[in-house]
Amino acid sequence: MQIPELARPSVCMRDRGRVEEIIQAMQRAGPSTLQVISDFDMTLTRFSYNGKRCPTCHNILDNRKLISEECKQKLKDLLNVYYPIESDVGRSVEEKLPLMVEWWTKAHALLVQQKIQKDLLALVVRESDARLREGYRAFFDRLQDHDVPLLIFSAGVGDVLEEVIRQAGVFHPNVKVFSNYMDFDESGALRAFKGELIHIYNKREGALLNAAHFRELWARRNVLLLGDSLGDLTMADGVHSLANILKIGYLNDKVEERKESYLRAYDIVLERDETMDVANGILWHITRPEQ
Ligand code: TMP
Ligand code: MG
Repeated sequence: MQIPELARPSVCMRDRGRVEEIIQAMQRAGPSTLQVISDFDMTLTRFSYNGKRCPTCHNILDNRKLISEECKQKLKDLLNVYYPIESDVGRSVEEKLPLMVEWWTKAHALLVQQKIQKDLLALVVRESDARLREGYRAFFDRLQDHDVPLLIFSAGVGDVLEEVIRQAGVFHPNVKVFSNYMDFDESGALRAFKGELIHIYNKREGALLNAAHFRELWARRNVLLLGDSLGDLTMADGVHSLANILKIGYLNDKVEERKESYLRAYDIVLERDETMDVANGILWHITRPEQ
């Protein structure tokens, strides 16, 4: 199989033969049977750039035009407490889950207190250091060109995420987003978050709540899943009569301690890889006519 990207040093696989089998099966079935489900923060966006951490959706809001210095500090304190828990391999999901709900609930309450202005979001995204991974345009464009639906499934903030992809010029019609959306009052000030909270460990519930979306895609039984956390593995739980799934996991941080658990959970693990190259290589292979 000719996918040179799979030979990169950042690529690790538990079972290369199995990965090749899945890709071949997907190629035989063709792009009309494919859907892509991807996490956003630290999966479609970069983890770091020039040695500096890139912001998540929540961190993009960390701008003095939107929030006070005090709120900024509080959000940072929350991150310092809860991010190490999120990425701690020594704790079970059961143990982490209530703590993640706590993190999201506290962070959203802080944002609501700041009455964030809707019409400043575009500016704040423009001023931020958010960066989609190298090769993102080829990824989004290829999916659009082949009419492959892309679901971005994020525990971040939908309004912010949409603005990032809109400004990058890749919010194509085949892109659908499940995320936490802001609810603004008549004056355009944030008053709450809409609907059920999506946090890092309830993507399965989020998927099941959006049954109509997956019903519409019933014929797309092959799934390419991209994530960076072990919570992202359940994003495809709503897919109807799944035939093949290939899970690609970005291992951005705490590489040594997390590698084993990522290799067990993801078919392909990308170690400190800031590009979309592997996903692109696989997509090229699946979407080209069989020879
Ligand atoms: P994702 O599902 O798109 O990856 O978004 C979830 C990320 O958001 C997760 O890695 C933690 C991050 N996050 C923050 O950076 N700050 C916050 O205040 C919260 C609640 C989450
Ligand atoms: Mg993520």
